[in-house]
Amino acid sequence: MSLKFDFNGLFDFNVGKNHGVTERELKDYSKDAQGAFDHLSKLFADKEARIRLSLEWFNLPRQDAKLISEIQKFGADIAKKYENVLFLGIGGSFLGLKAAQDALLSPYHNDFAGARKKRPRVYFEGNNLDPETLSVLLSNLNPKKTFVVCISKSGETSETKAAFEITLNWLKKGAGKNYGRQVFAITDPKSGTLRKKVNEANGKDGLSFRSLPLLEGVGGRFSEFNMGLLHLAIIGIKIKDVLSGAGAMAKRCMKADIKRNPAFMYALLHTILYKEKGMDIAVLMPFSEQLKSTADWYIQLLAESTGKKFERKVIFESGVEKWVNGENILNTGRTPVAARGTNDLHSIQQNNIEGENNKVLTFIKINKFKNDVKVPDTKDFLAGKKYSVLLSVAQEGTEWALTRENRPNCTITMPEINAFSWGELLFFFEMATAYEGELLNINAFNQPGVESYKNYMYYKLKKPGLKPEVAKEIESNSVQKKRKFLL
Ligand code: PA5
Repeated sequence: MSLKFDFNGLFDFNVGKNHGVTERELKDYSKDAQGAFDHLSKLFADKEARIRLSLEWFNLPRQDAKLISEIQKFGADIAKKYENVLFLGIGGSFLGLKAAQDALLSPYHNDFAGARKKRPRVYFEGNNLDPETLSVLLSNLNPKKTFVVCISKSGETSETKAAFEITLNWLKKGAGKNYGRQVFAITDPKSGTLRKKVNEANGKDGLSFRSLPLLEGVGGRFSEFNMGLLHLAIIGIKIKDVLSGAGAMAKRCMKADIKRNPAFMYALLHTILYKEKGMDIAVLMPFSEQLKSTADWYIQLLAESTGKKFERKVIFESGVEKWVNGENILNTGRTPVAARGTNDLHSIQQNNIEGENNKVLTFIKINKFKNDVKVPDTKDFLAGKKYSVLLSVAQEGTEWALTRENRPNCTITMPEINAFSWGELLFFFEMATAYEGELLNINAFNQPGVESYKNYMYYKLKKPGLKPEVAKEIESNSVQKKRKFLL
């Protein structure tokens, strides 16, 4: 059984024509939609273009089986040898791993040996500069029993770099002279300071600072099926099941007929709602605690991919397609919000139902859970009811309540949360985001907006090599701090 997308709640017949898509609008958009589909499919079919334009993620479900089984085996060996594994990384080098961890492992994995099933405890750091978490973690972990995986595509990200150096120091002190054998890196095959450091240490001792290269043309937020593979292997998930799910979804999402292509339909309806009805907030609400981190992963995917200042201009140089910024400033992109049912029904849901009607809700519904519990017989109306039933009724109730208030919503149903269906889910969102970027005519595969704060940090912290024009821009554009506006 495969993932299902129910989009009835996005149409006028459920939420009225001011807030829902009409069949007429769908028809009016069909030419743009066809153009978007044709353009993307042409690029997906061209390896060089995929690499050049950062679309190589599309090919990740079809990775070399031998390499996958080697990673699976290496991960299993690490899991046998160490009590703890510490992953360092941020953004796309963190969120996919965290999503997999929470979705595919038992809840409370780190807390109970029974839940861990002989696998190591897993921790994530380097995803913030909060001094509290890293200090507490390192002062409680045993360095001799900890394996460290540092993930950074660029090998330059300050958060990851700083955490890596601190962790290395801690390992060096606590694990002895061969501490490097407890270190692994996932980074660009050629460039970056992380790659340089890894190559130097590995050159001296082949068992130290081992590494996996990241594939060319795969951007951070689209890279879970590349940089997340070792993590999956360490936590004991069959990589090939995740990739099969992603591959099955890739096939469905390449169908030219939009009525048979769930990601394309998702992107088109949301784009119409955004452009024609002002629905500029996208709330993703899984009815599952385990999928909350997957919703967090989607936040990055949608926000970094479609939140763009400039329109994309497609140019050809000697027949080669390139994307540059166009003249038009768009400042476009829906704002994603992560929520979870039923927890957030007692929180953000009040605003979803009665606040400004500018949101589209996407629910994720799970048909079957691995565990279930029943409320004991206490003569109450809840007596004898299974949790899974209560959850499902709560989701139906939320859908009903929103629809009644003309609030557009749709539902993705997963048969259960397993490696295959989670692979499907991620790939569904990746494809939908690529189509959405295409429909908005923006470059969905870069993130220039995140550079400014980094440049400011480099300037303040005196990183060598900062371009003079960047320093000049910072010096001549300070934030005004007037005393009378401070209390
Ligand atoms: O999507 C992206 O490319 C970014 O969000 C990156 O994942 C993030 O900035 C971390 O970068 P890096 O992996 O180079 O440390």
